[in-house]
Amino acid sequence: MLDEMYPVFGKIYGSDTNAQSFFSPGRVNLIGEHTDHEGGYVFPCAIGFGIYALAQKNSLGKLRLYSMNFDSGDSAFEIRYDDIHGKVTGSQSWVNYPLGVASVLMKHGHEFTSGVDILYNGNLPDGAGLSSSAALEVLTVRIFSDLLDFGIDGVKAALYSQEAENNFVGVRCGIMDQFAVSMGRKNSAILLNCSTLEYSYSPLELGSCKIVITNSNVPHSLAGSEYNLRRQQCEQALSDIKKAVNVSCLCDLSANELEEVCYTVKEPVNLRRAFHAVSENARALRASQSLKDGDVATFGKLMNASHVSLRDYYEVTVPELDLLASLAWEFDGVIGSRMTGGGFGGCTVSIVEGGRVEAFKEHVGSEYERQTGRKASFYETVIADGAGKIERV
Ligand code: GLA
Repeated sequence: MLDEMYPVFGKIYGSDTNAQSFFSPGRVNLIGEHTDHEGGYVFPCAIGFGIYALAQKNSLGKLRLYSMNFDSGDSAFEIRYDDIHGKVTGSQSWVNYPLGVASVLMKHGHEFTSGVDILYNGNLPDGAGLSSSAALEVLTVRIFSDLLDFGIDGVKAALYSQEAENNFVGVRCGIMDQFAVSMGRKNSAILLNCSTLEYSYSPLELGSCKIVITNSNVPHSLAGSEYNLRRQQCEQALSDIKKAVNVSCLCDLSANELEEVCYTVKEPVNLRRAFHAVSENARALRASQSLKDGDVATFGKLMNASHVSLRDYYEVTVPELDLLASLAWEFDGVIGSRMTGGGFGGCTVSIVEGGRVEAFKEHVGSEYERQTGRKASFYETVIADGAGKIERV
């Protein structure tokens, strides 16, 4: 990746003499879906696919940005820091992620004393829900922090990135994606309490099993109104429940406690959303514990239950994701399978016995194509470290 980037960097920006290299992974969430914005637990890990960048300071006082995934031609998008006010529209709208990050950092008092040139190039499949946006944001924070000596740590980098996505890009996402890509650790999943940001690493000991990501190739779009609508429905449920009991977020409640106050929730649809958040939070905790106990089978069952809850109560799956999950469930050698990420397209994550992975891909791939006319893509990935500077290899 990096090797092909240096000549492009030289061509776009004139010289690559001082260019430093950076990488941010994407993420896959194993369990704990749509719990982050409700103050619950998530259990994601950073993956080997991600976004690479080369970056150096320039003396023009401008931010210049070029992506090998979106741009063609010889010139970069460029802007003076003072001119970053709002979103860019059109074919270069991908720059809103780095612009959002610059804007948030300035708001928090970081001084941009030099121009910066950045070249991005990623291998995360587009629209797959593996957090390309969070990767781009956190990567850009890491670049600014490193080149301009901001001294921003991994947790702060995640929070600034989330703020950029919430307030500049306009998606009211939780903290999971940015935290996972910033704080990931090789061969470990992160158990994160999204209410307190306390976290711990769990070594991913899956015995002979492998993690397989299956892309439905139905592009997901979170910026679409559905994500924000789910959040609003949870907020309404919480505000109804608060009239009966003193809680600060939905995931403060246990399933039994929610049962006791369910009559307070006026809209049935909002109760279904709350029921998902509360039960998924419990599943995330149980699942991470079962992995610690070496009980992969229970982990797998909880993944399956998570999918059902996302399908029936949170209603963020699409028929293609449901089909991928049920094809996996019926296959001998699958420990568990569920949609991962925001939903409305994107990927499933499955735990599959190592010796059955090829047969799994064959079975799921051919049935999926027969029933939908679409081809699924399969990724086996390493579990990676979080974003940061890398050496040229
Ligand atoms: C998206 C959001 C995350 C999280 C997931 C669902 O990936 O960016 O904050 O809410 O959806 O778990």
